[in-house]
Amino acid sequence: MCGIVGYIGYRDATPIILNGLKRLEYRGYDSAGLAVLQNSHIEIRRDAGKLENLERLVAEQPISGHLGIGHTRWATHGPPSQKNAHPHIGMTGEVVVVHNGIIENFLELKAELQAEGARFTSDTDTETIVHLLERFMAAGRSLEEAAREAFSQLKGAQAIVTFSSREPDRLIACRIGNAGGVAIGLGDGEMFIASDIPAILDHTREMVFLESRQMATITADGYTVQTLDGEPVTPTVHAIPWDPVSAAKGEYKHFMQKEIFEQPRAVTDTIRGRVDFDRQEVHLPDLNLTPEIARSLERVIIVACGTSYYSGLVGKTLIERIARVPVEVWIGSEFRYADPLIDDSMAVLAITQSGETVDTLAAMEEAREKGALLWSIVNAIGSQAMRIADGYISMLAGPEIGVASTKAFTTSIVDQYLLACYLAQLRGSQDREKLKGHIADLARLPDLVGSVLDHDEEYQALAGKLYQYANFLYLGRDINYPIALEGALKLKEISYIHAEGYPAGEMKHGPIALIDENMPVLAIAVRDHVYDKMLSQVEQAKARGGIVIALATEGDDLIAEKADYVLYVPETPWLLSPVINVLPLQLLAYHIAVRRGADVDQPRNLAKSVTVE
Ligand code: AGP
Repeated sequence: MCGIVGYIGYRDATPIILNGLKRLEYRGYDSAGLAVLQNSHIEIRRDAGKLENLERLVAEQPISGHLGIGHTRWATHGPPSQKNAHPHIGMTGEVVVVHNGIIENFLELKAELQAEGARFTSDTDTETIVHLLERFMAAGRSLEEAAREAFSQLKGAQAIVTFSSREPDRLIACRIGNAGGVAIGLGDGEMFIASDIPAILDHTREMVFLESRQMATITADGYTVQTLDGEPVTPTVHAIPWDPVSAAKGEYKHFMQKEIFEQPRAVTDTIRGRVDFDRQEVHLPDLNLTPEIARSLERVIIVACGTSYYSGLVGKTLIERIARVPVEVWIGSEFRYADPLIDDSMAVLAITQSGETVDTLAAMEEAREKGALLWSIVNAIGSQAMRIADGYISMLAGPEIGVASTKAFTTSIVDQYLLACYLAQLRGSQDREKLKGHIADLARLPDLVGSVLDHDEEYQALAGKLYQYANFLYLGRDINYPIALEGALKLKEISYIHAEGYPAGEMKHGPIALIDENMPVLAIAVRDHVYDKMLSQVEQAKARGGIVIALATEGDDLIAEKADYVLYVPETPWLLSPVINVLPLQLLAYHIAVRRGADVDQPRNLAKSVTVE
């Protein structure tokens, strides 16, 4: 999705904007540009392609000034090209705009503006914004007044930042619906704007976040926020606990690799402060949950997309087995159009790393309208999904930059494990000793995670044998079926190999026809109550000439006689085993993608946060 960076202050805006855009590269884009007010004149540099093209352009034709905005574009209306890249400037040359989102009524607005004499120079919907601003400023409105009137005419979800050479002391930013965030970074004599925290984390950790239909006027010394109806708003100032280092790659080759190896610490941070291991109790204060409300709940509905959806499938088992509460799990894009049967006897739990996934946010709004209690499990501090929920549980994984989600997946499972224990505690719905046992099991989890990652070289060696296959099948049962789905997604989204996750019991109902020497099968066959079933699955695949990679429990020699390759994981309490079993699959996918020369952190066609449908 698109990235936005803005600056106003005593320093040169150009390097701050360019570095901010680099921090947003992981979001996926196909063109980039910036506009700076230089000697009272708006200068624009923009081009299709990667940021290096823009940096080269700026080096050849330098611009500098104390006010500027930048943008990385993910093409929706109009192909990636220099003329369609943002920022967009109007006919007067006095107003410039960058924009995330889709203006659903842009054709109607464009026709209206052209009839008034506006000349469009791009194929984008964004350009209608700058012509609307010029219309209202020509009628004598200030930039702020013109912005309020212009933005109120836009249908759909938008994030917009604009400035004018006529009012060189301010930026205007606006958020409508869910088209990615608008964060305002507070500095001393300078202010920052970004669509995502990492872009400005080098300069400040104090930020405010715009809600939908809010607009900010930002000067070097401060900001005011109002609704599009002109009502003043006092937003919360968030202290972002992430440091710039944690948002950088460090000694790793890719962000994904770094984030895989951060999981022992991430899981530790997720648990820390929420579990009293002396009293064997869990505390989740941000959930704002009372025993009465907990006892009144008849069902939990989990809604999420992609990897977060697979995490929710694991969560269903955790909450049903530990808290004894029925759980449904929905894909966000299905839930929002299904007119689901939900009411105030239920809690809807949205799981979203970015907190900005448009389908998940829409599902939250649907749940809110139907009266359900609204929870979220989120990683991005201050994101929409964190702010609109009645209660939330932060993943506390630190910034996840790689498009392929890894530490967010494992920490969101731990969060659901904590939620399951907390619900059981408040409802009294689990035998106290059993519950104490579940809580005690958490103590060893970070070490178990670290012990699996120590085998990275094995996974790298295996990747060297498998990276040229064109198709893979991942099989799992019960709590490991979602891990098969997640393992397959990791492989397909970064290596572009076709990989399918399947419930192992379904093999005979079709997929077994696929098995031959060209179809590696990864079977999750750890020692649990379905081990024997998985063992026979391995034998069936072998009998048909398949290549079998078994994920097995340390000490299991039997499986080594059946499978071609075995990846061993340590004995783990069953309900926590998905956190362990996914790790070799993350690293296998990573090393296969690296062997194939794929762009691991920015896979083609993908973005870190899907903020448009
Ligand atoms: C996972 O590796 C993908 N990047 C994608 O499926 C992602 O999990 C999905 O888009 C949901 O994102 P969210 O957790 O930020 O809502």
